[in-house]
Parts: sequence; C-alpha cells; structure tokens
Amino acid sequence: MKKNIVILGTQWGDEGKGKIVDYLSRYSAYVVRYHGGHNAGHTLVVDQKKIVLHLIPSGLLHPDVIGIISNGVVISISELVKEIEMLKKNNFFIDKRLFISNSASLILPFHIALDLEREKKLGVNAIGTTGRGIGPAYEDKIARRSLRIGDLNNEKKLSIKLEKIVNYYNDQLVSIYKHKSFDYKVILKDLLESKNIINDMITDTNIMLYSAIKNKKTIIFEGAQGSLLDIDHGTYPYVTSSNSTIGGVITGTGVGPKSLDYILGVTKAYSTRVGNGPFPTELFNDIDNYLSKKGNEFGSTTGRKRRTGWLDGVALRYAVQLNSLSALCITKLDVLDNLKEIKVCIAYQNMNTLEIHTNTSFNNLENMKPVYEIYPGWMEKTSGITKIEDLPNAAQHYIKCIEKIAGIPVDIISTGPNRNDTILVRNIFL
Ligand code: IMP
Repeated sequence: MKKNIVILGTQWGDEGKGKIVDYLSRYSAYVVRYHGGHNAGHTLVVDQKKIVLHLIPSGLLHPDVIGIISNGVVISISELVKEIEMLKKNNFFIDKRLFISNSASLILPFHIALDLEREKKLGVNAIGTTGRGIGPAYEDKIARRSLRIGDLNNEKKLSIKLEKIVNYYNDQLVSIYKHKSFDYKVILKDLLESKNIINDMITDTNIMLYSAIKNKKTIIFEGAQGSLLDIDHGTYPYVTSSNSTIGGVITGTGVGPKSLDYILGVTKAYSTRVGNGPFPTELFNDIDNYLSKKGNEFGSTTGRKRRTGWLDGVALRYAVQLNSLSALCITKLDVLDNLKEIKVCIAYQNMNTLEIHTNTSFNNLENMKPVYEIYPGWMEKTSGITKIEDLPNAAQHYIKCIEKIAGIPVDIISTGPNRNDTILVRNIFL
C-alpha cells in the first residue's frame, strides 16, 4: 500500500498540479506544500466555484485533510492571511487544520521591492519573475540572515533582527534603485498583527510528519512550479529560486527519501511557459492562439499570457530521470480536442552540427531545434470523460505514445477543470 505520494510538475509549472492534489486528497490525511512561495497559483474548481490558492496546500478544501506548509516554503504572512480569509468567505473552514513550520523563511515587503526593481533594471534581459520577492527571500535563507516564522515568538529579538535586515535592504534599494526606504517599525507592527491570526498554526512540522509516517497516515507532497524551473536542474538562469524537483521534498520537509512511495509527474498534453527563457517547442501561429484560448493559458498569479507549444518528449524524459518518476498524470487532454494533428518533440537537432539528441543538457539549448513526430487528432469532445475506454481511439493512441516516449505509465488523465473530470487509469494507492 502506497502511503506517501509526491505530485510535482515536469514542465515549466502550470501543469494543473493543484487540481490533481485536490482530487487525490480525498484519500489522504495530510497535504504538504514544501517549496516556493506565493509565486505559485493552484486553480481548483469545486462545486462550480473557482478557487485559486498560492500558499495553502490544495488538499485543504477537503474537510478532514490536515495541511502543512513546511520549512522549504518562503512565506509572506500577509498573503497567507489573505488566503485564509478568502477561503472563509467561500465557506471553506480550515481552523485547526493548517500548520506552518517554525523554520520557514519569511517574505517581507523589501524582498518584493528588490525583485521588482532588479527586473526593471534588467529590461529585455529580465527573468520574467512573478515579482513576489521569491529570489531575494531565498538569497537571505542561504546567506543565513532570514527572518523565520519561529522568530515571531520573541518580539524583542524579532525587532532587532528586522531593523538590521531592513537597513541592509534600504542600502541597496535607496542607493542603487532610488526606491523609497522601508521603516522597520511599520513592518514589525504588521507582522505582530498577522501573528495573532497564525499563532496557533506555528509548530515543528518535521515532528508532525515523522509522527504521521510512523502512524502510517497517507501524505501528499504538493510541488509548485515545475522541473524545468528548478534552480539547479532547470533552464538557468530562467528558473525560480528553489528546488522544484524531487530533492526539494527532502530538504523542504525533513522527510527522508525512503519514506516516499510514489512520485507522480504532472504534464500538460502540450507545453506552456510564463516568463522568459528557452522553450524549444514554442508556437507562434494559429495553434498558439487556439491553445491560449481553449486552455485559458493566462497566469493564475500574474494574469500574464502563457507562451504555448507542443509537448516536449525530450524534456519529459529528463523530468522522468531527474525525479525518479513512478508514473505520469496528463492534464488538459480536452484542450487538444479540435486539432486535426498533434505534434510531439521526440528529439532535438543541433543546427550547427546537425546531430540528433534524444537526451540533452537543459543548461544550453541554443541552436537546438525540435524534431517532431505527428499524430492524428481525434476531433471529438473528451471533456468530462472519466473512463479511459470512453476516450476516442486517437486520444488513447496519443496517451500510449506519451507512455512510450517517457518510458513510464500514465496513471491519471485530466479531461477538464472540475474535480471529477478525471480518469484514474490505475489505483495509485495500491
Ligand atoms: P520567481 O519564482 O517569481 O522568481 O520567477 C522565476 C521564473 O519562474 C519566472 O519565469 C516565473 O514566470 C516562473 N514561475 C514562478 N512560479 C511559477 C508558477 O507557479 N508557474 C509558472 N511559472 C512560474
């Protein structure tokens, strides 16, 4: 019986992980967000209601699930409080069901200001960040100057630490970027006010997780972003500042690798990317317009139009290797319903040497052009289908081809945004 399941993205984020976490959470006791911050946007549709979560684990919409935001996440307390209130307004009550690690680092207003100013200065060379302060907050963590959630428990120490870090940021913001300076007392007041709301949630989440594992509870680890945005293994420097591949679960929670039973890689039936950076299968034609519109490919955090492209089999195989994936979940299959033919990149060709590569380094994609295989489209509605045998033959063929390219089975297929528009090909908990 598989108990501990990781759900992570194989592409550049926005694969639809949130919906799958929500769908599988009905079978789990705990759901854990383990890296990233409110740069993530997980869109869920429950009872015709659209809910977008940025920090709160997606499984929490089920009334008996316990949510954990573990040490690997960088937390903006003001955003977290906003999200808690939004859920309350929508009649989702999470009292006594959400816990936050005392060793998670904070995102504060000066991180956001620096992120935005740096991007502005970079101009055409900008990373295209979400502007949520993610990079500067992780820099502080590595430089050992972060304010952490646990620091909120000692007002005096918090005040001293905060004054120091605000001075550090003001130096850069004012002198380099001509930004207005921050007053640490204002930030302190806001932090202490929000602290009252989250106080009872703060704990040592590692201990909670060890105990859950010991008691054989089912845990879902919810990834954010995607493998190709990983700080070490992605398309650097056009990446996020955390490990969105499997290692992020280990460092971001304190749970060891032997405790992970099943790793599900979520991939869209095509590709998208927001922000700048290489995207070999990117489309610039009518099909881009079609995918954007039919797939509603606009960022749930920033509203930016996502770049679209064909499914990239080389990148998918890379994600399988990087994450030791057990199986795939294919999302948004229904978006392809009206296409006469569908392409999948099966290799790259180096345009200088004309060599063909079925595996490649994602550090350097310059001169790499995709080599495609073309499949017939099905030109039939698949949205809402819940059994694999009800899919048109051409759609079943497409799934089989993806399995062959990736070398692992497809265990779940999503055919629409609603919780139940889902095909469970295999019971993954067995
Ligand atoms: P940051 O994480 O805000 O620093 O942004 C770095 C890169 O990651 C940018 O290209 C963002 O567009 C991308 N990114 C960050 N979070 C997400 C996400 O949740 N989905 C898709 N792209 C993301």
